[in-house]
Amino acid sequence: MPNIEFQRVDKRYDDKVDRYVFKGLDLHIRKGEFTVLVGPSGCGKSTLLRMIAGLEAISGGELLFDGRRVNELSPVQRGVAMVFQNYALYAHMTVHDNIGFGLKIAKVPRAERERLILEAARQLQLEELLQRKPTQLSGGQRQRVAIGRAIVREPRAFLFDEPLSNLDANLRGQMRAEIAQLHRRYGITTVYVTHDQVEAMTLADRIVVLSRNGLEQFGTPDELFDTPGNVFVAGFMGSHRMNLVPVDETHDALLTMLTGRGTAHWAAAGVGTVGARPEHVEVQAGAGARIELVERLGAESLVHFELPGVALRLTALSDDRSLAPDQRRQVRIPDAAMHCFDRQGQRCQP
Ligand SMILES: Nc1ncnc2c1ncn2[C@@H]1O[C@H](COP(=O)(O)OP(=O)(O)O)[C@@H](O)[C@H]1O
Ligand SMILES: [Mg+2]
Repeated sequence: MPNIEFQRVDKRYDDKVDRYVFKGLDLHIRKGEFTVLVGPSGCGKSTLLRMIAGLEAISGGELLFDGRRVNELSPVQRGVAMVFQNYALYAHMTVHDNIGFGLKIAKVPRAERERLILEAARQLQLEELLQRKPTQLSGGQRQRVAIGRAIVREPRAFLFDEPLSNLDANLRGQMRAEIAQLHRRYGITTVYVTHDQVEAMTLADRIVVLSRNGLEQFGTPDELFDTPGNVFVAGFMGSHRMNLVPVDETHDALLTMLTGRGTAHWAAAGVGTVGARPEHVEVQAGAGARIELVERLGAESLVHFELPGVALRLTALSDDRSLAPDQRRQVRIPDAAMHCFDRQGQRCQP
């Protein structure tokens, strides 16, 4: 179970093109932790996983497992297991043979092989399905077989690339809980790519936020939610996107309504953007912003406000069921819930 360390790692796919997916990446993934990678499509999440797995060469810098350089080691020598979104099961083989395939290739003796297959099948509730073929399984069952195939090899690390994105919402929730339990039971260092905010927040010990510019922030789910380090992370993390109001003349009236202080105050304090999560925006009686749309989420609603003369829409989460389009309300951000970012977009404390 290694800790995995990127030291000044560069990655580009074409050494004739000066376009890097990663440039000088430093990242330390801790032993036994569940690390989740998030970021917009094309930012390099799969590339990062494949570099760990040894499926993708590194253009510069060092990758270390437990302090030992692994740049030149093959995927087999690295001993990590990867589970893909499309499962990549062998269609002509039974569940039993799919799970045992890697062991057979590795020439593990038959008795030991059987023991490992049955143990994995028991852990993953696949015992009844061992003689079926992949086409006779549901999506969730197939995903479990793919996980089983990885587990029996007793990998030093588990790599998941959006493993649940093909499943319907119900099953996704169920598999999410199973993966969390699996990690608790085996304690294997896990790196997991997802674009699902709930998966990221619930599964992760630590989250890596990537953008086209590389590493944006690395921290616990609470750290990212409570103290996003920059505007990108603030806007990216969270089930409901954070409201981000640029500090400029067009937003003077809005800033005054929201914070009690106008553009001049915030600009003088070096603030370039004021942010607030919809969860923390207070909706109060009084004429102010017009409600444009109310999205019912069940216990709560996401209320969209339109603001005169401003293109920006503001959202607030509210449990007040009487709110309806065309009503007017005051919206406020309590000081404690305010996020401030300087003109470079970095978190600041005015
Ligand atoms: N085999 C490849 N050859 C050339 N460019 C690639 C290859 N794979 C990925 N890329 C490029 O690298 C960048 C990162 O891709 P990827 O790691 O797949 O992103 P993500 O998984 O975050 O969506 C993208 O710009 C993508 O087009
Ligand atoms: Mg990808």
